Amino acid sequence: MKHLLKLSDLTREEILSILNLADQLKFERVNGVQKDYLKGKKLGLIFQKASTRTRVSFEAGIYELGGYGLFLSSNDLQIGRGEPVQDTARVLSRYLDGIMIRTFAQQEVEDLAKYGTIPVINGLTDYAHPCQVLADLMTIREYKGAFKGLKMAFVGDGNNMANSLTVGAIKTGMSFAIACPKGYEPDAKIMEWAKANGQFTVTESVEEAVRDADVIYTDVWASMGQESERQARAAAFSGYQVNADCMKAAKPDAMVMHCLPAHRGEEITEEVFEEHAKEIFDEAENRLHAQKAVMVKLLK
Ligand code: CP
Ligand code: NVA
Repeated sequence: MKHLLKLSDLTREEILSILNLADQLKFERVNGVQKDYLKGKKLGLIFQKASTRTRVSFEAGIYELGGYGLFLSSNDLQIGRGEPVQDTARVLSRYLDGIMIRTFAQQEVEDLAKYGTIPVINGLTDYAHPCQVLADLMTIREYKGAFKGLKMAFVGDGNNMANSLTVGAIKTGMSFAIACPKGYEPDAKIMEWAKANGQFTVTESVEEAVRDADVIYTDVWASMGQESERQARAAAFSGYQVNADCMKAAKPDAMVMHCLPAHRGEEITEEVFEEHAKEIFDEAENRLHAQKAVMVKLLK
């Protein structure tokens, strides 16, 4: 594994190996026995979109491993003024040991990896959010013990989260069902792959998707970059909400997950969110551990 561009690039074994290392790093941190696995290593963090969790967990994570993180806002980089990503990649490769990038087009992340000579980590694109899903898988395993036989249900937009969760669920042996309005399905190629490689359902019925689910996942109706579609999306997604009715249809011990930030009263009710806050914030914490594992794998 040279980069983390999208989950479909990783084998099941590579995913499990990251999760095992993440568990180990979490244990070491809790017990105060963490080593400087990345002493002196420098990771550039390019952000073309806002972030709370990704930025802070990467910066804190690289620091805890003995390395250094450079926050690089696209507002301040020449990339924001049109310098090509091919050139940025070749320049940053001369200074740094790795780059994390959050941007719009997946192609930009792929190009950064293609033209640079250092590992690239996708910190979210319109297409994928692999770091989030590694943390999600880690959290599911903590709560449920194993993946095989679990049903994960996603309620809402077939966005970057839905794409990456589909791949993560199928690769780890879970079944995956998404409820979304027509026209808002996940990426067509990912759905095709999921159907060929596991148990994947796409439906307009929330009730059908969440029936007997072990894990219920949701995300915002309008992602970053879709601000102008907010109104149209609010209309299309009304009814695609994780609420008490959903919870009745799922297994009694179903977990609820959200990558955050959450919009209470839209994709999830305040009541369900607060009832499952423990899982949701464990999930947010695990961003730190999962990404530390990714950094150790790629930069060490
Ligand atoms: N879940 C997530 O990626 O959060 P941020 O947008 O705050 O980084
Ligand atoms: N789908 C959301 C995820 C945020 C972490 C977005 O892209 O804005």
